[in-house]
Amino acid sequence: MKTIAQNGLIEAEQLTDLFRKQFGGTEDVRLFQAPARVNLIGEHTDYNDGFVMPAAIDFHTWVAAAPRDDLLLVVHSVEFGETEKFNLTTDSQTPKKHWSDYVAGVAFELRNAGIPVSGASLLVHGNVPLGSGLSSSASLEMATAYALTSLAGADPDRDRTQLALLCQRAENHFVGARCGIMDQFIAAHGQVEHALMLDCRSLQYELLPLPRGISLVICNTMVKHELASGEYNTRRRQCEEGAARLRGALPGIRALRDVRAEQLEHNAELLPREIYKRCRHVVTENERVLQMAAALRDSNLAAVGRLMFDSHQSLRDDYQVSCNELDAMVDIASALPGVIGARMTGGGFGGCTINLVEDDKVKTFRGAVAAEYQRRTGTVPEVYVTKASDGASELTDGASHSRTEEHA
Ligand code: GLA
Repeated sequence: MKTIAQNGLIEAEQLTDLFRKQFGGTEDVRLFQAPARVNLIGEHTDYNDGFVMPAAIDFHTWVAAAPRDDLLLVVHSVEFGETEKFNLTTDSQTPKKHWSDYVAGVAFELRNAGIPVSGASLLVHGNVPLGSGLSSSASLEMATAYALTSLAGADPDRDRTQLALLCQRAENHFVGARCGIMDQFIAAHGQVEHALMLDCRSLQYELLPLPRGISLVICNTMVKHELASGEYNTRRRQCEEGAARLRGALPGIRALRDVRAEQLEHNAELLPREIYKRCRHVVTENERVLQMAAALRDSNLAAVGRLMFDSHQSLRDDYQVSCNELDAMVDIASALPGVIGARMTGGGFGGCTINLVEDDKVKTFRGAVAAEYQRRTGTVPEVYVTKASDGASELTDGASHSRTEEHA
């Protein structure tokens, strides 16, 4: 078996041993993983049919799994030390407001989609910082979906996009969070050393090689994004309202994705000030994603950096989903040598920033950003130097890792 983490965490064999201790039996245990993500640019655009540019990162959720002969889904979390049971046929399919909802929601959605998921024991372990905007939930959903599909004898690689959509449905319908498609999509389609630009309407995507000599450095403010879900839904509603009001003058538009900056300016008087600002963020952010893709293709690092800082400003001032700690982290980074660009990443209200930093400056960056952040806020941050990783896969010895799908 492979080593599954470089961070001094549990190795694959140990995870299998833990599984056997927890569930007994010597049956074949299979091991699956799905990554967390960081978003380089394109924030709060996915649910407006827009563009995003995440990368899968070297933080994962692992699921060790074996079938059972009953119709129970029994899930144990190593981190929480808790076990939950769901009856796949008789449970009234009500969420428990608990981490296990992500697992159960995926199982129910798979069954709804006609995948013959039957009973299974699952042991879940992960090293994704929780509540930090790195999408631990999508990584758990995708690792579960990949595992249960494989256990049901179906091929999870046949259509990774459908698997991502199914996980999003689990989160929308069962867990009750109205997230967009970005996190699940990148957990399915991520590729080592690449960012992925996704058109969230057509679901066509392009893998973009990350610039050489530049590290992905994530700074965790240690502020949990607890406020985020209520505010997230409010932002979604405001975007929908903006699109509906603009439709009065621009009948062709289906979502804010269809609005250009000049059109928005031209029709600004149709919108209350706050709604206008939300729309301005989305419209300009979509343009920034396209410009970022061009800048990466041209290795234009100056443009990459400018776009990241502009994105942060827009999220802070127009979309108002930043917080003092995120702003401080970006401000500190912007003054440090070797920093190409920095911005908040994920839903906001806490969590992390993403920083592109020249490799040979990473060590000093790490020390300097941590010291200054602690001086300004009194909190010791965590700083992760990570790399772009592959999407979900099976890690069991002998499992095929071939990617058969075509991408756009
Ligand atoms: C969360 C959601 C995503 C996306 C981001 C903001 O991570 O799950 O769908 O909307 O926020 O860009």
